[in-house]
Amino acid sequence: MSLPITQSQIPPDIIDLGAGEPHQSVFPLHMIHLAAEERFSQGDSSFLQYGAEQGDGYFRLALAKFLSRGYGLPMNPESIFITAGISSALDLLCTLFTQAGDTIFVEETTYFVAPKIFADHHLNIVPIAMDENGLMIESLEENLKRSKPKFLYTIPIHHNPTGSTLTDVRRTRLNELAQEFDFLILADEVYQLLSYTDDSPKPFAAYTGGGAENIISLGSFSKIIAPGLRLGWIQAQPQRIKRLVTSGLLDSGGGMNPFTSAIVRSAVDCGDLEKHVHHLIETYRPRLQKMDLLLRQHFPSITYTTPKGGYFFWLRLPRQMNAIKLRQQAKTFKVDFRQGGIFSSTGGSQNYMRLCFAHYDEEHIEEGILRLKECLKGR
Ligand SMILES: Cc1ncc(COP(=O)(O)O)c(C=O)c1O
Repeated sequence: MSLPITQSQIPPDIIDLGAGEPHQSVFPLHMIHLAAEERFSQGDSSFLQYGAEQGDGYFRLALAKFLSRGYGLPMNPESIFITAGISSALDLLCTLFTQAGDTIFVEETTYFVAPKIFADHHLNIVPIAMDENGLMIESLEENLKRSKPKFLYTIPIHHNPTGSTLTDVRRTRLNELAQEFDFLILADEVYQLLSYTDDSPKPFAAYTGGGAENIISLGSFSKIIAPGLRLGWIQAQPQRIKRLVTSGLLDSGGGMNPFTSAIVRSAVDCGDLEKHVHHLIETYRPRLQKMDLLLRQHFPSITYTTPKGGYFFWLRLPRQMNAIKLRQQAKTFKVDFRQGGIFSSTGGSQNYMRLCFAHYDEEHIEEGILRLKECLKGR
């Protein structure tokens, strides 16, 4: 009998091109081993104590330096709050900044589990339309005429599931609107450091060291080290961070994940994390290119915009195809994907599918795409 360790398990005979988590083969076990060894050899057990509410100060310093290099902009450790990952950060932000019945704006479509967190807080979701350049400002303006949101949840770069990135012009206008209508921007920047071209816009996090009161940037180690660490960070104006730090949760339990923070700090300080992120980029870029090539070759009737980072392709199927039915049929061809509908809060995107290019190596990507082609034959 085997007992569960991981959240999901892909049957060995299936190629699941929908899987959105890193493959176990890219987890840097050796890097974590060395980092833990270094930390344990210091003879200082303070990381086993209840942690400082904002997060281990040395870790925040190391993280600020790491992010400054990664983002190419100075990051302030005083604007960083350590979290147990983006999911838990979203939950805390909902607890502190919303009440049941409040309205929030969420992109249509979005990271499919975020709305479940918002539902736990009984929030009223208003969808904001998107196109290939991220959320549409006209849709935002239209909805602001009708309702006042507590926050907008957006994935501004290498979006999950659409792969889109919000343009600079839209970012500027979004910031202006957030100030004018007084709502928070929760910018989920989980894929910011996984950019495979040199033309990424600077993150919303760049504005948090100064006076941008409305911006809260969410970062995570889930995709650049491993989800099992349950470690991430919030960047926000120091005044906003103060509200997080004084919450009952932090007062009682202390800062989040001091033990893991201390180990990851060692990996950051010695430069290993930077090397690892570089390695991931060099691993994922050819996977993206491979999937792009195969899609063009084998699915001429499917349309999409090639992503420039992150994990995902968002494919628009010919109108007559229903992704739910297709997914059922795909099982018999030993291949899987995610149907577009699960990313919609309005029942839309029925003729879309999300494929992940990051999970498998090129060989498996090719085999998976060929299986998908067989499944789509004659439809
Ligand atoms: C857009 C987005 N946000 C958040 C997460 C989850 O982040 P975490 O593991 O830090 O909770 C994911 C994971 O797939 C994601 O795609």
